[in-house]
Parts: sequence; C-alpha cells; structure tokens
Amino acid sequence: MVQTKTALIYFSVSGHTQTAAETVGRYLQLTPIALTAAQPYPTTGFQQLVARTDAENTQSQLPEFDPVALGDTQTLYLGFPTWYHQPPRIIQNFLTTTDLTGMTVIPFVTSASSRVTESLPYLEKWAADGNFSLGEGFTANNPDEIAAGLKDDFPL
Ligand SMILES: Cc1cc2nc3c(=O)[nH]c(=O)nc-3n(C[C@H](O)[C@H](O)[C@H](O)COP(=O)(O)O)c2cc1C
Repeated sequence: MVQTKTALIYFSVSGHTQTAAETVGRYLQLTPIALTAAQPYPTTGFQQLVARTDAENTQSQLPEFDPVALGDTQTLYLGFPTWYHQPPRIIQNFLTTTDLTGMTVIPFVTSASSRVTESLPYLEKWAADGNFSLGEGFTANNPDEIAAGLKDDFPL
C-alpha cells in the first residue's frame, strides 16, 4: 500500500492515458487529476494534432499547462502518452518548471507500441536537473501491464 502522501496526475488527449490513470487510481485509491493544456489540444482530427505537436517539436515549444496543486505530495504518479518516442513537451514543461524537489515521480506511459524505456532518458535528465527522484516507471497500455507495474505498490 502507498504510505506517503501520493498524487496521481495524467495528461491525455484521446483518452487512453485517462483510462490508464483511472485504473491506477482504482488500485491506489487515488482520484486522478488531469493536467490540462492552457491551449487545448485538438481531440478530433488526427492530422490537426500531428500538426500541433510537430510544430511544438520543431519550434522547441514548451506548452503552458493549467496549474495543479501538489500540496505536500511526496510521491507522484504521472501518466502521459508517448509522442515521437518521448514524453509530450507539455510534460517536459510540467517537470522542468514545477518545484518537485525531493519528490519521487513514477511515470506510466501509453503508446501504440513504444515502451516506457523510450521516455526514461528524458525523464532521467529532467529529474537530475529538477532534483526529484524517478521511481520505476511502467508501460500502461492494458490492465495487465498496469497491475504488473504497480505490483509493489498495492496489496494483492
Ligand atoms: C503526435 C503523436 C505521436 C505519437 N508517437 C508515438 C510513438 O512515438 N510511439 C508510439 O508507440 N505511439 C505513439 N503515438 C500513439 C500514442 O502514444 C497513443 O495513441 C497514446 O495512447 C495516446 O494517449 P491519449 O489517448 O491519452 O492521448 C503517438 C500519437 C500522437 C498523436
């Protein structure tokens, strides 16, 4: 069982990561909190989403997000989709501009096929720069992967 003050935040555009976060939340008895973009992403039209995210990458944009209250959180489960084999740039902005000093961030990712390992090098750099720890993350594309990823965090 999770002992420390724990929060569950996710970023999702088309709903997969939200579903994963809801499953994580059921296991950990936490209410998922959505990280939302100040300028919402297109949820209809894959090409519009690709155009927006491609521009973010080529122009090195760090999209603004609506504030989230972390209080005295010590452990943060953070879910996000894999975009272009790495975390979305809004996640980069969240992790590099929020004071997470001393916190442990446990990432979980959804994807078409990419594993969490693709995102880890980015997360490790931001953790080192931001003075937070990175817990063992997991890929969360289905309930089995989520149960396996959380195996040490909830009583079976
Ligand atoms: C712009 C974009 C880039 C993507 N890049 C990858 C990728 O590199 N690897 C992968 O396996 N899936 C990739 N996907 C698929 C998403 O990771 C997958 O659909 C994810 O579950 C979507 O999460 P969401 O429904 O919470 O937004 C990409 C999707 C989009 C829209």
